Amino acid sequence: MKVVRTRGECAQARAELGLGTTVGFVPTMGYLHEGHLSLVRRAKTECAAAVASIFVNPTQFGPTEDLSTYPRDLDGDLAVLEQAGCDVAWLPEVADIYPPGFSTFVDVEGVTAVLEGARRPGHFRGVATVVAILLNVVRPTRAYFGQKDAQQTVVLRRMIEDLALGVDMVVAPTVREPDGLAMSSRNSYLDPAQRAAAVVLHRALQATRTAYAGGERDADRLRTAMTEVIAGEPLAEPDYVSVADPDSLAELATIDPARGALLSLAVRFGRTRLIDNVVLPPSR
Ligand code: PAF
Repeated sequence: MKVVRTRGECAQARAELGLGTTVGFVPTMGYLHEGHLSLVRRAKTECAAAVASIFVNPTQFGPTEDLSTYPRDLDGDLAVLEQAGCDVAWLPEVADIYPPGFSTFVDVEGVTAVLEGARRPGHFRGVATVVAILLNVVRPTRAYFGQKDAQQTVVLRRMIEDLALGVDMVVAPTVREPDGLAMSSRNSYLDPAQRAAAVVLHRALQATRTAYAGGERDADRLRTAMTEVIAGEPLAEPDYVSVADPDSLAELATIDPARGALLSLAVRFGRTRLIDNVVLPPSR
């Protein structure tokens, strides 16, 4: 596995892979877990070469968020990337991505105004900007993202289409711990009691999915079902629960089975905030 640092080194490594070579790209912020590695393995299976980046992107963190404490383990990450079959690991510094004078940002409108975007102002501007830069340097055939960050996938799909970036976006299912907790680098912040409590996100989503499967279509009643499960866990403080249109992310009054819905939620455990979601697919 080749390890590169600057934009120039990464572009050179990409050129050496061959312009006609299909490249699968997995952008990450490191502290890699099975969710990331499943994306790398899939990229390697579906493309001739796999490229991954590790970059804790400062522009997607708010002033009171966890940029300085975000978990890092570069040596461990490089070892597991290599095992997963990654061909090129790109580890840029902040100045490689945002050199002096940098002043161009990507703002995706509409779908960023709700859910995570409403609670984390500027977050998706930072995500869209860095992903645009990463894609422009790596020039992949396909870019791989996890369903766990559901709104991020909606925002980036919009950006890739609007800016004609010419990349196929692949969204892979959320990888979960045996008890159902969605894998996340931020799970490492949880103490043992919080970790045990955190399974409530999955339980709330499952209860709601079951209610939907049983015929419930009223979105308020489904939101209430999620809220009630969370309320049963004393360490959990809900931030939001949502039943939204899967494309526009607008909150629904009633679910149209022909369109399906995105069930999502954010819950705090002390200072750690976790998100999770379930897609209710359209039925024919
Ligand atoms: O999902 C993430 O880890 C990040 O938001 C991403 C896509 C790597 C951009 O920094």
